[in-house]
Amino acid sequence: MRIPNRTRAVLSTCAGLALLATPACHSGGYGAAGDDLVTVAPKWIKGAQMLAERAEHGGVRVSIESPSVPGARTFTSELRTIMAETQTEFLTRGKSEGDAELDQKATFLAATPDVLGARVVSTRTTATGTEESGTTRWYDTAKKTVLPWTALFSDEASVTVAGAETARRLREQHGVDEEGLPAGLPTVSPEEPQLPAAPKAVAPKDAEGLAAKLADSPLDDIGFTSSGALAVNFSPGEIPGRDEKVQVVFSNEGTDPLLSEFGMMVRDAAKTTPEQKVDLGGSAADAHKGPGLDCSRVPCVALTFDDGPGEYTEGVLDELSKYSARATFFVLGTMVREMPDVVARTAEAGHEIGNHTWDHADLSGVSESGVRKDLARTSDAIEKAAGVRPAVMRPPYGSYDEATLKAIGMPAILWDVDTMDWQSRDTKKITDIALKQAAEGSIVLMHDIHEPSAKALPGILSALHQKGYHFVTVSELFGDGGMKSAMAYLRRE
Ligand code: NI
Repeated sequence: MRIPNRTRAVLSTCAGLALLATPACHSGGYGAAGDDLVTVAPKWIKGAQMLAERAEHGGVRVSIESPSVPGARTFTSELRTIMAETQTEFLTRGKSEGDAELDQKATFLAATPDVLGARVVSTRTTATGTEESGTTRWYDTAKKTVLPWTALFSDEASVTVAGAETARRLREQHGVDEEGLPAGLPTVSPEEPQLPAAPKAVAPKDAEGLAAKLADSPLDDIGFTSSGALAVNFSPGEIPGRDEKVQVVFSNEGTDPLLSEFGMMVRDAAKTTPEQKVDLGGSAADAHKGPGLDCSRVPCVALTFDDGPGEYTEGVLDELSKYSARATFFVLGTMVREMPDVVARTAEAGHEIGNHTWDHADLSGVSESGVRKDLARTSDAIEKAAGVRPAVMRPPYGSYDEATLKAIGMPAILWDVDTMDWQSRDTKKITDIALKQAAEGSIVLMHDIHEPSAKALPGILSALHQKGYHFVTVSELFGDGGMKSAMAYLRRE
């Protein structure tokens, strides 16, 4: 194999150093035992929380642990969305006999005012064994831009040299033979790579283009040790025949010629010991919204419950929690006044509370000031009970006119799937309609004040869950900025 002179000289003098970069000389003490990568506990990021979701049906278990960070929702949404994609794929295509489990967790690899980094590890356990894989995402906080692993490198030539050097180290230091190298690694170094003289600024779209081109590269599972050395992770099983984790650690000097400006920034972040919490801004409302999920990339359904709270609402909340499902409750002011604790519990569980007027008035034909007064009174009651002000409303009977829309000051949410539960009061009919009509982007109308509706929920949840759907609030279905005030919505198109 050949490495260009400049790089070869640097890499070979550092090979020894790289070998020394083992846990024994690893300072900082963030990483788990045997894990050289710097990891940053969420407590070092202001307002950060880890949110756990889990669901189980018929011996198949899935779980997601993803961070919520006020001020960095594009980043947390990306992390949760890639986990949701993996979950949908696991449930719909990864069908296995009997017990199976998919466990996904995100860990921070860097957190400074300039940069966040996270590693997502998925572990699949099926009858045939356990498979693990990791991937990383990075975030430029100033530009609020999510970046793939390729953004750490100046250009494609730099990535190729890193890949070839990784392959060489796997052969020479870990005894992996040529045939045993994981897919996506170049087996030989480029003859005369033109490496940039100084770290380059990489445009996000160029980094994304390169990541798409190199989609099978194992270098996506990458990070830095606390001494600033680049490390590539190979999960157990990723190298054929290796059941243990293998890590290739470079040295600062070896990789400096390869890193982009952003890569250098991430490297410096890894070397920084946090002394105080990183504050990325963001509001309390941001924190309440959770990590976010991009419903343009995974199948989502928004279940909605009207006219409550009522005597079946808490049972509905219990069923939803079995799937970590989130839903939207369009409540009546009169009922909120009677059962404020139930509304508070609903909001605390992460569901969205929508405004359904004070006492179910038909708003069509009501004056603008009358509509405003009714909705304000209702929103006040909701805010008093649950501490959050509704961002969406649903007109009773789906009835409204132009004046109503102008007056409401928020999006009007209708539905594309009407379970007709208020009419049939028949659990089987409700379930059949929901399962027959619900599709990606659907808004499903139900009522949590009728017992047959509450009884239909477990069947609806389990069937849609097994089809890979994610249960989201209406606001999450459309995404931040996805809805406009004074517009009516039937579903996400
Ligand atoms: Ni209603």
